[in-house]
Amino acid sequence: MANAAVRVVDHPLVQHKLTLLRDRARSTKGFRQILNEIGMLLAYEVTRDLPLETVTIETPIQAMQAPQIAGKKLVLAPILRAGTGFLDGMLSLMPSARVAHIGLYRDPESLEAVEYYFKAPSDLADRTVLVLDPMLATGNSAAAAIALLKARGAQDLRFVCLLAAPEGIAHVQEAHPDVPIWTAAIDSHLNDHGYIVPGLGDAGDRMYGTR
Ligand code: URA
Repeated sequence: MANAAVRVVDHPLVQHKLTLLRDRARSTKGFRQILNEIGMLLAYEVTRDLPLETVTIETPIQAMQAPQIAGKKLVLAPILRAGTGFLDGMLSLMPSARVAHIGLYRDPESLEAVEYYFKAPSDLADRTVLVLDPMLATGNSAAAAIALLKARGAQDLRFVCLLAAPEGIAHVQEAHPDVPIWTAAIDSHLNDHGYIVPGLGDAGDRMYGTR
C-alpha cells in the first residue's frame, strides 16, 4: 500500500504560534494556552475534507437546502499525557466528539512505548479517529497507539501532531501506511535522547510545569 500523505499545516497563525511555543522563555500557562489554540487550528485543517450532506431547513425567511457534516462521527484520541494539550481546543470546535484516552509512556532506555491505560468508545469501527500527540519523535508511541485503536476496531484514523521528526514519520508510515499525518512542521532530526531537534523540549513537562 502506498504511504498516506503527510500534510504540513503552513497557515501563518499556526506557524506564528509554533514559534511562540518553541521559545524556552514561554510560561507554563502560555504554553498550555497556545497549544490549545493550535489544536483548534489543526482541527480545522484535519477536518477539511469531511463529507457533507444536504438537509432542508427553514430560515426566518424561507426554506432552503443547506450543508451539514455527514458520515462517521469523530473520536479524539490523545496519547497521554501531552496529547491532552490539543483536547480543549479541538473540543471547542467539535463539542460532540467522543474522547478515547491512551496511556503510553516512553521507556527512557529503549524509547519503546509501554501501555498503561486504554479507554475508548466501543464503536470505533464506525468512527473517524484523530490520534493526538504534539510530538512525533521516534514514532514508537504513535505506532503503538494506532495499533491499539486498530485492535479495537478502528479503521479510519488520522494522526495529528505539532512537530514531527523525519524518523517518526518514516516509522508511522512503515507501520501504518493507511494513516495520514498532519503536522505544523517537520524538524531536522532526533538527538541521542530521542528529542526532536530543534523542537521545543518535552511537551508534557512544558504543559504541566513538571521537571
Ligand atoms: N517528546 C517530547 O515531548 N519532545 C520531544 O522532543 C520528543 C518527544
